[in-house]
Amino acid sequence: MKRKPQDLRSWRWFGPDNLRAFGHRSRLKQLGYRQEDFTGRPVIAIVNTWSEINPCHLHLRERAESVKRGVWQAGGFPVEIPAFSITEMYMKPSPMLYRNLLAMDTEESLRSLPIDGAVLMGGCDKTTPGLLMGAISMNLPAIYLPAGPMLRGNWNGKPLGSGTDTWKFWAERCAGNITAEDWNDIENGIARSPGFCMTMGTASTMTAIVEALGMTLPGASSIPAADSNHVRMAMNCGEQIVEMVWSGRKPSDILSLESFRNAITVDMAIGGSTNAMIHLIAIAGRRGLKIELPAFDEISRHVPVLADIRPSGRFLMEDFYYAGGLRALMKEIRDLLHLDCLTVNGKTLGENLAGARSNNPEVIRQRSNPLFASGGTTVLYGNLAPDGAVIKTSAASPKLLKHTGPAVVFQDYNDMDARIDRDDLQVTPDSVLVLRNAGPLGGPGMPEWGMLPIPKKLLTAGVRDMVRVSDARMSGTAYGTCVLHVSPESWIGGPLALARDGDPISLDAENRKLELLVSDDELDRRRAKWVKPAARYGRGYMALYADRVTQAHLGCDFEFPDQGIAIPEPEIH
Ligand code: FES
Repeated sequence: MKRKPQDLRSWRWFGPDNLRAFGHRSRLKQLGYRQEDFTGRPVIAIVNTWSEINPCHLHLRERAESVKRGVWQAGGFPVEIPAFSITEMYMKPSPMLYRNLLAMDTEESLRSLPIDGAVLMGGCDKTTPGLLMGAISMNLPAIYLPAGPMLRGNWNGKPLGSGTDTWKFWAERCAGNITAEDWNDIENGIARSPGFCMTMGTASTMTAIVEALGMTLPGASSIPAADSNHVRMAMNCGEQIVEMVWSGRKPSDILSLESFRNAITVDMAIGGSTNAMIHLIAIAGRRGLKIELPAFDEISRHVPVLADIRPSGRFLMEDFYYAGGLRALMKEIRDLLHLDCLTVNGKTLGENLAGARSNNPEVIRQRSNPLFASGGTTVLYGNLAPDGAVIKTSAASPKLLKHTGPAVVFQDYNDMDARIDRDDLQVTPDSVLVLRNAGPLGGPGMPEWGMLPIPKKLLTAGVRDMVRVSDARMSGTAYGTCVLHVSPESWIGGPLALARDGDPISLDAENRKLELLVSDDELDRRRAKWVKPAARYGRGYMALYADRVTQAHLGCDFEFPDQGIAIPEPEIH
């Protein structure tokens, strides 16, 4: 049933005939607005993660104006609100450390201000889950506008992919196969427009997942940032959110266990980033739903990888858009999706797929010709990862997916950085490189160190992949036989803390096993001698983070004893 102006949340600020409302109204009039511009109209927050240090969101300042145009035309009142601009490229030690801070920023901005609905603008990796987590916790009508991928990179007429080609050509440079001039040309050509990484990295994965969840307008996740269709999509989001407010359509009406299963299914079909697992578990948690790692493995087993996009495949997101985008991919797997899930436009996912089709079966493969028959991602368990670990099998070397080799253990990133290229490092192509103290607390923030570099002396001998094991994450643009998210992490005494140089480590992806082949008695002896690291942060956000963050298999959200209890609306005094 359509709501009335008096039902609006913002009415509590602007509607009453009292002293407080006088203050609220007079200060909007100070900005030049008339009373009829905002009273009784849905007040729409445009939550914008733009900043000058975030190149992925370079265009969002401008795009907010298009959203406003849509809001005005639909009879709403738009207000742009800055949100913490997590930028993947520059934030140290890891932007993941700040995802939960953006979630808090979003939730509390929406709660404390006279907002009826929100358009969430983000895209660079952690901004998508951060914005969504906050909006779900607040549970006002909300729609997500993905920033969109950047255009293809270019080097001498050849397409370059963010991250993926950086790692690839860096390895060639280390091996002496390309020149410093080549490297400089690659640097100049790899990021040539606004937008997020245009490989199937975490940004493209997460925005696709949000579309599969029903929290974007149909087709929104694939539009390149620089395309004029992106401007129109921004305006459409502005119009749609006003309708959502009048209809009262909230995230809790859209998100269900079925929509999360759709999201996981799409994640597998696009060969998505392993980071998505952590974020989806956290996002579902904000909706009060529990998703566990085995659900990813179970779905992965029967969903083919159809998006032929780097790092698993050959093409880039611009190609994906021209091939029909996510709607075309979802159409191809429609029998695997829950088509009756509601989406932000009030239609079901199935209704939104009407008319979608692939224009290029090389980029969006058909079911009869998948990139991989199943299993973009595999969940591993064993004595080295009692609570789980993950490997992106679609980006690994098939011959290494069953492998046993002696460990070469690095105590932390600095240790690895100091020793990995030394000539006296005892390492062979069969070795298993181990990095510890790179987890949620050890990193802190699980930095994307999981694609440990191949030692230089092996690189020059032609080695391009090895088994690597860590409690870190890996960039969605990265590749290789990298076991990630080992849980519990080594910083809190997880079994990775007990591994020593030369210990045999066995990876068996087909049987979902990751084992440290050392006797239980010996591991008990090592555990008894293990010393817990001292706390590093005495105050501020970092102390809150260290106190409350959960392990990777639980989504790395903050754990509060009263997590399920709704926070009351603010009193208007
Ligand atoms: Fe922003 Fe890759 S750096 S998405």
